[in-house]
Amino acid sequence: MSKIILTGDRPTGKLHVGHYVGSLKRRVELQNSGEFDKIFIMIADAQALTDNADNPEKVRQNIIEVALDYMACGLDPKKSTLFIQSQIPELCELSFYYMNLVTVSRLQRNPTVKSEIQMRNFEASIRVGFFTYPISQAADITAFKATTVPVGEDQMPMIEQTREIVHKFNSVYGETLIEPQILLPDNQACLRLPGIDGKSKMSKSLGNCIYLSEESDDIRKKVMSMFTDPGHLRVEDPGKLEGNTVFTYLDAFCKEEQFERYLPEYKNLDELKAHYQRGGLGDVKVKKFLNNVLQEELEPIRNRRKELQKDIPYVYEVLKKGSEEAREVAAQTLSEVRAAMKIDYFSDEELIRAQSLKYSE
Ligand code: TRP
Repeated sequence: MSKIILTGDRPTGKLHVGHYVGSLKRRVELQNSGEFDKIFIMIADAQALTDNADNPEKVRQNIIEVALDYMACGLDPKKSTLFIQSQIPELCELSFYYMNLVTVSRLQRNPTVKSEIQMRNFEASIRVGFFTYPISQAADITAFKATTVPVGEDQMPMIEQTREIVHKFNSVYGETLIEPQILLPDNQACLRLPGIDGKSKMSKSLGNCIYLSEESDDIRKKVMSMFTDPGHLRVEDPGKLEGNTVFTYLDAFCKEEQFERYLPEYKNLDELKAHYQRGGLGDVKVKKFLNNVLQEELEPIRNRRKELQKDIPYVYEVLKKGSEEAREVAAQTLSEVRAAMKIDYFSDEELIRAQSLKYSE
């Protein structure tokens, strides 16, 4: 069986370092591993419209931002198919058929939908499109026969729901669709990178992000303002690591060889942590180290992005080509789905013969 990746993001803003460690970095590694037969990276504009119906311009403006961030991180159009969800009408048709396989109460139990409804104060007036987006996400994944979906932890319920739809479809209509596996980051700190204020999640609406396109000076300012241990008042005081954002970021980003470069008094992160807990290590020193670590990771991304920004028509051309290619694959799956559901009447010679026979006596 081919190994196929499908994943993507809603274009509602520039991508930040939470996206990067949670999924983007891994995608690039998987792309370059050569282990996968096909890699589809989707800009989920149609899904973004399910909770931005009144603000379509935001979605429209951010498609290019996400594409630039993708390519700046190393997603390579020669190796991965980058495309825009709304350009694949086959996904709508698949969703429409999958809707018959999912109950309202099952959708209501989807934890991601539940928490998003709460976050957006949607309780009183949930739009149907938003409520059913897990079904459309199942269409995204299955249309490309994805075996592997590298995403953040918050997407786990979506993949679970997709697997249920696949299972139901295959048991009603015969083996047609592929059950996907989720691929989570293996580093705990990357699963849910907190914002610079230490709040649970990095998110644009909370204003606590470091963006991939951020200028070097702004990165430094943000790192220096990061939430640490509020009880760690004097350098001599013992410091706590739990909930200490600076250390969570170091867990997510720092490599052992960076100690030699920037902080040679310590061999590795464990030694640095031990000193912090013991007391005698100030926040500023740790923050300066983190700043160096982040600058090293983000500088090449920012530079590549600036290069790409010089030729925006090329980036749209990449998305156009990718969308054409993706559409062919989705159309093939849709024709298999139609055949399995036996709604391919005009190519079903047996059906036509049987109906003729019925009326021939
Ligand atoms: N739900 C994802 C997000 O919020 C975006 C998305 C849409 C997606 N369809 C997908 C991710 C299919 C993985 C697979 O970022």
